[in-house]
Amino acid sequence: MRTQVAIIGAGPSGLLLSQLLHLAGIDCVVLERRSADYVLSRIRAGVLEQGMVDMLDKAGVSERMFKEGLPHDGVNMSVGDTRLRIDLKGLTGGKTVMVYGQTEVTKDLMDAHTARDAKVVYEAEDVTPIDFDTDTPRVTYKKDGVTHEIACDFICGCDGYHGVSRASVPQDAITEFEKVYPIGWLGILSYVKPVNHELIYANHDNGFALASMRSHTLSRYYIQVPVDTDINAWPDDAIWDELKIRLGEEAAANMETGPSIEKSIAPLRSFVAEPLRFGRLMLAGDAGHIVPPTGAKGLNLAASDIYYLSNALIEFYGEKSMAGVDAYSQKALARIWKAERFSWWMTMLLHKFPDLGAFNAKMQQTDMDYLASSHAAQVSLAENYVGLPF
Ligand code: APR
Ligand code: PHB
Repeated sequence: MRTQVAIIGAGPSGLLLSQLLHLAGIDCVVLERRSADYVLSRIRAGVLEQGMVDMLDKAGVSERMFKEGLPHDGVNMSVGDTRLRIDLKGLTGGKTVMVYGQTEVTKDLMDAHTARDAKVVYEAEDVTPIDFDTDTPRVTYKKDGVTHEIACDFICGCDGYHGVSRASVPQDAITEFEKVYPIGWLGILSYVKPVNHELIYANHDNGFALASMRSHTLSRYYIQVPVDTDINAWPDDAIWDELKIRLGEEAAANMETGPSIEKSIAPLRSFVAEPLRFGRLMLAGDAGHIVPPTGAKGLNLAASDIYYLSNALIEFYGEKSMAGVDAYSQKALARIWKAERFSWWMTMLLHKFPDLGAFNAKMQQTDMDYLASSHAAQVSLAENYVGLPF
């Protein structure tokens, strides 16, 4: 088999890339290790920057998002019983974010692929990128016991943090930057009314909590826990009780509780691989970088990578020029590092860390006081939260 671009991974990165390339008349094949149902069963982020909303619109997959997504003009920070509202719209000259789950984004992209009978191979085993240091790269995979080979011009590694693409690069060609936090987020999803019409990020003496949502009837909550926590130690009732404590009195009074339909613990990690291009192999999304979820940047960074990468490939086929491909890694990384900085800062500001020390605890408190008192600090938070320009 031959295609122009072989894409490994059918998460948001891979599917958005495939969709944009298709619209530009570029042929591609997506290879995904899991089944479509499995991919859709993963509950992940839920806040889209305007730039990502615009891309989904351009990709022709925005109809349901505009109908069902919830535009948010602001976001709240709560420390003890003080709540600070960051007026995202007012502070950024009119920019907002859209609350719409990654699962829904993925489903819309999958539906668009199905509708045009796109080449997506689910349950592809042993996917292996080969010869990407030459002009004739290939990808092999196994399906139903049969080995297949795809010859292509480029391989796009959109296969997440644990994917095969980054792992296939010779170790001396790649530098990895990593910060592991000693904490995790225990998340629950429950069919209850959101406690507030906007998100609340709370830093309480017991630790961080977040009140988020997927719709007017589906809520998503998180609490900070030690990273090695056994999820069985947290029955639903205990989580609701803890959320009421950490989110403050007003939220506690308004909180509707119910059974969880999903419950999981995710570790917090910052990670960047440099560069993101190795000959004819490019990494995008979680394959190249991870942010802790505190700033809601993971999914949005995947979208900005795909913005640069799709444009680079469209330029290659349209103008027979490698300039965009040559510039991809540098352009993407410049924005990635800024989102890494913001996610790290939000994480350090809002969590309780076991060995923070007295000085750093004072810095954390002062950072919060400064944010509450400074218009400039709030503008900085707001412009990052709604997303820096592509
Ligand atoms: N072969 C084929 N597919 C693979 C392989 C492999 N060896 N390894 C992983 N995959 C698939 C995974 O099963 C997954 O469906 O690649 C896909 C990667 O998807 P994501 O992990 O969702 O990564 P990405 O598309 O970059 O999306 C980034 O996901 O984790 C969140 O915070 C992150 O919201 C951000 C978004
Ligand atoms: C979510 O709704 O899952 C969510 C929202 C905001 C974050 C992280 C996750 O910062």
